[in-house]
Amino acid sequence: MQDYKDIIAEILIDEKTLQERIKALGDQISQDYHAQDLLLICILRGGLVFMVDLMRHITVPHALDCMALTSYGVGARASTGNIRMSLDLQTNIENKNVLLVEDIVDSGFTLFHVLEMLQTRRPKSLKVCALLDKEERREISVPIHYRGFSIPNKFVFGYGLDLDEYYRNLPFVAVVDLEKYKPPSA
Ligand code: IMP
Ligand code: MG
Repeated sequence: MQDYKDIIAEILIDEKTLQERIKALGDQISQDYHAQDLLLICILRGGLVFMVDLMRHITVPHALDCMALTSYGVGARASTGNIRMSLDLQTNIENKNVLLVEDIVDSGFTLFHVLEMLQTRRPKSLKVCALLDKEERREISVPIHYRGFSIPNKFVFGYGLDLDEYYRNLPFVAVVDLEKYKPPSA
């Protein structure tokens, strides 16, 4: 894989800005769920880095669980609307306060399907915390109760978000230079 420095068009959100915003989100969540129990659900793999930083700012008692989804059909970089749960939760969410932690909401299809699936399990409450929101790309309306940043319609990577599974470790969110990035051959 190429060095990340060779494929960055721009750093969209730097580390300090990310961390300050995440702390503010954690503080808000802690206030809103005051004296209540909480279950954080991470949508793997993109939401992982965000959840780990976010939970360290959440002061109410909380448990966590993870789920993974596969979207299939055409277009590796956009959800097609065909979404399947490929890793289910270990926790029974019935009557629990659930907060979904997502990296980015793009078309909205992923989140829409996840909310629909989870709602059938009758949680006490079900809310969404998304780090990034690409509003311009929305095709289906979804609620975002806690939003980190609204971003323009550009393909981003870093801080949990991947380019062909790499670069999730970067501490900032960057825009990829599509003229320089060479995807690995299959
Ligand atoms: P949606 O179903 O179209 O909202 O797609 C959401 C999923 O697509 C996210 O959870 C990401 O995994 C992926 N995704 C959308 N935009 C980007 C991006 O700019 N960079 C990396 N992944 C993205
Ligand atoms: Mg994702």
